[in-house]
Amino acid sequence: MWKTAQSSIFILLSLAAGTSRAVNNGLARTPPLGWNNWNSLGCDVSADLLLDTASRLVSFGLMDVGYQYTVLDDCWSDGRDENGRIKVDLKRFPDGMTAVSARIHDHGLLFGMYSSAGHMTCARGEGSLDHEAEDARSFAEFSVDYLKYDNCYSKGRAGSAQTTFARYETMAQALNETGRPIVYSLCNWGEDFVMSWGVSIANSWRISGDIYDSFSRPDDRCSCTENDPSSPWCVSPGAHCSVLTILNKIAPYADRGQPGGWQDLDALEIGLGGMTDEEYIAHFSLWAALKSPLLIGADLRKLSPEALTILNNPAILAISQDPLGVPATRVERNTSVPKDRYGIGETHIWSGPLAGGDQVLILLNAANTDLEMVAYLEDIFAGQGPSCSAPQCNEDWLVHDLWAQRMDNNVASELLQKSTSREDAARILKGTNHYNVSSLSYKKGLEKLDKRLLGTEVDEIAARGALKVMVKRHTAKVFRLRPKLGVAGKRYSLFKDEL
Ligand code: GAL
Repeated sequence: MWKTAQSSIFILLSLAAGTSRAVNNGLARTPPLGWNNWNSLGCDVSADLLLDTASRLVSFGLMDVGYQYTVLDDCWSDGRDENGRIKVDLKRFPDGMTAVSARIHDHGLLFGMYSSAGHMTCARGEGSLDHEAEDARSFAEFSVDYLKYDNCYSKGRAGSAQTTFARYETMAQALNETGRPIVYSLCNWGEDFVMSWGVSIANSWRISGDIYDSFSRPDDRCSCTENDPSSPWCVSPGAHCSVLTILNKIAPYADRGQPGGWQDLDALEIGLGGMTDEEYIAHFSLWAALKSPLLIGADLRKLSPEALTILNNPAILAISQDPLGVPATRVERNTSVPKDRYGIGETHIWSGPLAGGDQVLILLNAANTDLEMVAYLEDIFAGQGPSCSAPQCNEDWLVHDLWAQRMDNNVASELLQKSTSREDAARILKGTNHYNVSSLSYKKGLEKLDKRLLGTEVDEIAARGALKVMVKRHTAKVFRLRPKLGVAGKRYSLFKDEL
């Protein structure tokens, strides 16, 4: 009798554990920072690549500005064994996955892997659909810390929010049942209203088809764009989505991310070569302000100093890792501006609250010419009260430029060439007073009002006024607004822990 009671209690407890929500798994309280091979290397993966990348994350000083996850994407499996366990491709990973994972962990980094909620992955490897429990156990055995879970070959179990939710929830439960904390990253390309249910089971969810290395060039293969941003009938969100397309896609529901569950705008293209430096600045700044996971997509063996100095900007990373965890939203879009030969041209103003009462402000110029842009406090704080009824609109603000302290190219070159260990990187970072999260977390640095995170003061906005800025074609100006008088010593919003 006791035995039966005991086992029912156990079943109840495991059911409770199994259905506990990933958003409450304690992980990803700020957007994950790391690297993923897909954008630059596709299926060209191996143990050597991952270990080489991990050591470069360390020696380039990227780990010391917060990048942690080394994520292996598709193309690592080799069928299943007679017991149904997924097999690792031993040609690419000769010592098995546990060995790779251990060596990544030895650096103090975390390890991510990939599978699909289908019978095959997108590159036609082994998928996890109907094998969720045994695959979750394999991931736990490999000491995986992050799982990207794709959407190909779903056997038709898609087309409604409920069907897709069920398919992804099965893996959420299987991961929870392993007892290992694993960040659960959904990759169903924004289909089936994932922006409404992703947060219930996952730490992040992709909202679009695959990004490509273009700032604004439209491509029919990236469907489901601005005219039907949340349509469940969107056919094949596909690939070749530009930075601008992804921004337009997320704009109506940009506010859905929160600590523990973030909207994934896809891995970064910075450093791949298809965009200008200015375009990459816009791409990185907006991904950070929208609180997307920031996974470097470049091949680190070919990283340029310019790309490194975008990826390692602590003032922008502090926006991504802000303790309040509120994504920026678009407060203005203007399409009456000069267009390019594709008919593309628009400007945006994005803004959102930050811990301590600050506010991020981004003026994006995707028009086909340099422009003077104007951001009104009335629009920036419209969400807090329209027509300047918000107290913030009646405040004077200091304007801090978050790209003014970008690392010098020579320092970046030294990190890329001469640094071979974490100590080397730390020495170089220290020599130039670059921010280092292993000495001071972003949260602590913000609490201490560290100037390297707050940016450089360049202007002011008077109460009920506006900021006018020249913004070059295809880039963004990125500012942290700070209340000038702190509203007579009062702050509008405190750090989350103080609330
Ligand atoms: C796509 C996914 C990409 C990448 C690729 C691998 O579906 O969106 O990010 O993972 O599959 O085959």
